[in-house]
Amino acid sequence: MCGIIAAASTRNVGKLLVQGLHKMEYRGYDSAGIALHQNDSIAHLRALGKVQLLEDKMVAEKPKSKLGIAHTRWATHGEPSEINAHPHQSKNNVYIVHNGIIENYIELRESLIKDGYEFLSQTDSELIAHLLDLYLKQSNNMIDAMYLAKAKLEGAYAIAAIDINDNESLVVARNKSPLLLGLGTDEILAASDPLAIGQLTNEFIFLEDGDVAEISAEAYTIFDANKKQVTREITKIDISSQATSKGEYKHYMEKEIYEQPQAILNTIDGRIGGDDVLDNIFGLGSAELFAQVERIQIVACGTSLHAGRVAANWFSSISELPCQVDYASEYRYRNPHVDKNSLLITISQSGETADTLAALRYAKEKDYLGSVGICNVPTSSLARESDFVLFTNAGPEIGVASTKAFTTQLAGLMLLALSLAKSRELNPILRKRVVTALRTLPEVIHETLKLKDQILAIAPAIASKDNALFLGRGVFYPIAKEGALKLKEISYIHAEAYPAGELKHGPLALIDENMPVIALAPESEIAEKLVSNLEEVKARGGTLYVFADPSVTMDVNNGAVISMPKCDFLLTPIIYTIPLQLLSYEVALLRGTDIDQPRNLAKSVTVE
Ligand code: F6R
Repeated sequence: MCGIIAAASTRNVGKLLVQGLHKMEYRGYDSAGIALHQNDSIAHLRALGKVQLLEDKMVAEKPKSKLGIAHTRWATHGEPSEINAHPHQSKNNVYIVHNGIIENYIELRESLIKDGYEFLSQTDSELIAHLLDLYLKQSNNMIDAMYLAKAKLEGAYAIAAIDINDNESLVVARNKSPLLLGLGTDEILAASDPLAIGQLTNEFIFLEDGDVAEISAEAYTIFDANKKQVTREITKIDISSQATSKGEYKHYMEKEIYEQPQAILNTIDGRIGGDDVLDNIFGLGSAELFAQVERIQIVACGTSLHAGRVAANWFSSISELPCQVDYASEYRYRNPHVDKNSLLITISQSGETADTLAALRYAKEKDYLGSVGICNVPTSSLARESDFVLFTNAGPEIGVASTKAFTTQLAGLMLLALSLAKSRELNPILRKRVVTALRTLPEVIHETLKLKDQILAIAPAIASKDNALFLGRGVFYPIAKEGALKLKEISYIHAEAYPAGELKHGPLALIDENMPVIALAPESEIAEKLVSNLEEVKARGGTLYVFADPSVTMDVNNGAVISMPKCDFLLTPIIYTIPLQLLSYEVALLRGTDIDQPRNLAKSVTVE
């Protein structure tokens, strides 16, 4: 989704701003632009498509500047085009970049047109430039103009603005959309994503909602929502270039798939000891709170929601707690009833997903015992706003399609199921069994990754089709859904998932030789029933690709049965995810899609 970077420096900033845009490419975008202050004019360059095209324009024009703002846009209002790309400007006086959505833009646009402003783009963002120009005329300084504009703006925004009459400083503002400052050497930076400026500094200040800051090469000043000057904590984070490079891999997604043994180790490391999960791994006081829990509510989106659906089974079987799972985007709109002693769990890789954050904020007004976040980004809004949090420690996930974030979420959720059971003094033998199995999990994943050659053998048959059906039962149904999501988002093959028992209630009508069926058949009490469901597919000419426990045998037309490594049944959903990730990756590779940045998608979905 959109990315902002801004810099005030004693050196030329054009190159570092473009490098920052490159670092944010993984978020997904359709156009890019830059505005560079050149004392009596502003160099304003934009390009539809890749950042490289903007860079080519920069190389051709070589603008020199020590103060600038830049942006990657992911279209919300108005089609992807150069004219809709940021920065937007007003009367060549004010240039802005904006992330988020201005909800009252129609009303503000109309009033600005009455004030004589001409709109060149179809975006909601352009009005911010006009508003600032209008208020600059009244106040003569950008900080005051920003507060006057903020009073009018409804919605979510991170803004960076420059004024033609000020070649030393720029102003940024944050409301419900991430924004941070970076303190460099002889320069101060602002960005919506720490990765954009992680090469330039290890010192960050995470702005809070309502904050406005003015930055120059030597100094910064932060004001809060009430325009009171404030000091915000400086956080030191080392974002090494190694963690964000592809290394020997063709794509980030491939690298992240292969990082999973280490990522899972990082999730469980220091959190289990002896035969049990350690106390208070979700934060001080969490063990006591967990003892009171009688019901669980999970909210999340996309892949993170699938992790929640798997975990709901574990909360039931290990922690003996009922659990409801909701799409974060739906939860607030169903007037949820909150039972006594309910715990809210949010799951998010980025910790910045607007729907999940909105659900968390909504839930805070309700009568929950507390909130627990499962999150991969320690500096995120979700991490800061949750009562308790467990970081998945997966390391930066750059590929838009979530892989290691998902399996580490599952490991983190398993730790939560164990912690709840421990606080409730339940199932010590089962806890010991799971803890023992968790220790071997990285090795089992390592074994599972060796299935690549068998997956390469089946990938062409799936890559040549337009549709695919994924089947699983019980806890494997959300894994089948995750497999279908991976395939559709990176290969653009239409894929759906069903609980295998539902086939005969409708989807069986879709089965023919053009519908590959990918099924998950672990050893379980319903394995036989699943095999019968798959026979129904075979009898209708469907080709089956089955990931199965070695004990499950079956004949599959021209398809394949791929034997999975053994592991404790409770952890098998994590293991069965791996071949589905590999399969979608190999299929997408054959179809030649943009695997790390699939069309229309964004990594961090910061608009509702
Ligand atoms: C799919 C994918 C998305 C995200 C979803 C939530 O591969 O990555 O479905 O899972 O947008 O994002 P987070 O987890 O950052 O809240």
